[in-house]
Amino acid sequence: MSKEYRFPEGFWWGSATSAVQIEGAADEDGKGMNVWDYWYQKEPNRFFNGIGSQVTSDFYHRYKEDIKLMKELGHNSFRFSISWSRLIPGGTGKVNEKAVEFYNNVINELLENGIEPFATLFHFDMPIEMQNIGGFENRKVVEYFAEYAKTCFELFGDRVKRWITFNEPIVPVLGGYLYNFHYPDIVDFKRAVQFGYGTVLASARAIEEFKKLKINDAKIGIVLNLSPVYPRSNHPADLKAAELADLFHNRSFLDPSVKGEYPKELVEVLKAYNHLPEYKEEDLELIKDNTVQYLGVNYYQPLRVKAKENMPNPYGVFTPNWFYDEYIMPGRRMNPYRGWEIYEKGIYDLLKRIKDEYGNIECFISENGMGVEGEERFIKDGIIQDDYRIEFIKEHLKWVHKAIEEGCNVKGYHVWTFMDNWSWLNAYKNRYGLVAIDLKTQKRTIKKSGYWFKEVAENNGFVD
Ligand code: NOJ
Repeated sequence: MSKEYRFPEGFWWGSATSAVQIEGAADEDGKGMNVWDYWYQKEPNRFFNGIGSQVTSDFYHRYKEDIKLMKELGHNSFRFSISWSRLIPGGTGKVNEKAVEFYNNVINELLENGIEPFATLFHFDMPIEMQNIGGFENRKVVEYFAEYAKTCFELFGDRVKRWITFNEPIVPVLGGYLYNFHYPDIVDFKRAVQFGYGTVLASARAIEEFKKLKINDAKIGIVLNLSPVYPRSNHPADLKAAELADLFHNRSFLDPSVKGEYPKELVEVLKAYNHLPEYKEEDLELIKDNTVQYLGVNYYQPLRVKAKENMPNPYGVFTPNWFYDEYIMPGRRMNPYRGWEIYEKGIYDLLKRIKDEYGNIECFISENGMGVEGEERFIKDGIIQDDYRIEFIKEHLKWVHKAIEEGCNVKGYHVWTFMDNWSWLNAYKNRYGLVAIDLKTQKRTIKKSGYWFKEVAENNGFVD
């Protein structure tokens, strides 16, 4: 029996991208250097096949053609990020007029094609000068970020009605300060906490600036990578492990962003191990007064945990993994082309939780998608026959649909991503696009999933 999955009127269909991953033109037209440009110069071999982000998909020069293609694929909305180091080289000071022109062109082109622009202010790309003085560990950088945000609202706020302060803010914390996959590539839990805390402040300061400008019918939010946490069993030790994993991975940004306060359990555990960040009383007011107006949810896979055999391990470096081990659930379903679990119901569990525990705040799926290594092997008749991706998106959409039927305030769904793009350290290893890119010629070819997505977007749903 087939069922009809129709989405609410005005549902946002589109995709998400980020500046470093698609723009290229890394040192053109006065752009400053960000941490990725810098790290690549220093250690090119860290990057898959030695490929850095200088060229990527060359969106900087091809945005017109790409936006046309977005329209062709049924997009009514699209998330991109503004590169701080392109707009304000060095992070503070003079605005780069060439960058203003570029982002104006992108925004205008989107609007002319009936595509609502969603602009992210920070997607992992700290200007190197800002990182050199500590990044968000340094309150000066928090202020420079607020200035940059204000500049963006003033320049583009007449047309951009959907803003995002940060994309996945926990990722630079984990990658840069604990697990060695972002610059500055160090392991220091205390600094990780301080950087994360500074990020929360920076987001709140940007929201404060945004509200001062009273831009009509515009909203500002944050995009978080949330993972439902499932314990191995109902044993109290496993439940405790899951609670701690949830505190670190989800609630550390979700609670301050949406509720305006940190979970007291998180504060307690950091205090107990002497890892609280330095803070001022007035910070807490700032966070309280500047919560987000909507929420983007990136969902890829759940987090399954079990209690640690020896918990906690007082000899290792203090990290969230002190408190739990990953649990490899027997029979879990894996993406065969990239080692991530596929668990579609996770998206529903997250949305229900946002409804029940976070005031049913307006939200949307800001990223969901499937990475595939060696995708060329699926080419037939010149097109990548990515039925696995269609299946992946469709099954997730069914759960999103169910969540909406049950009252969740979900406004849209953005695929990660529009066209195959460059990824952090992994470069072009895993392909995620609805559109394939030939890296030699930059030729764009729509995949089977792209044609499928177009149908879904244009019909505001599907029958299955
Ligand atoms: C998360 C990030 O926002 C994006 O930059 C990344 O490439 C995708 N998800 C895929 O892992």
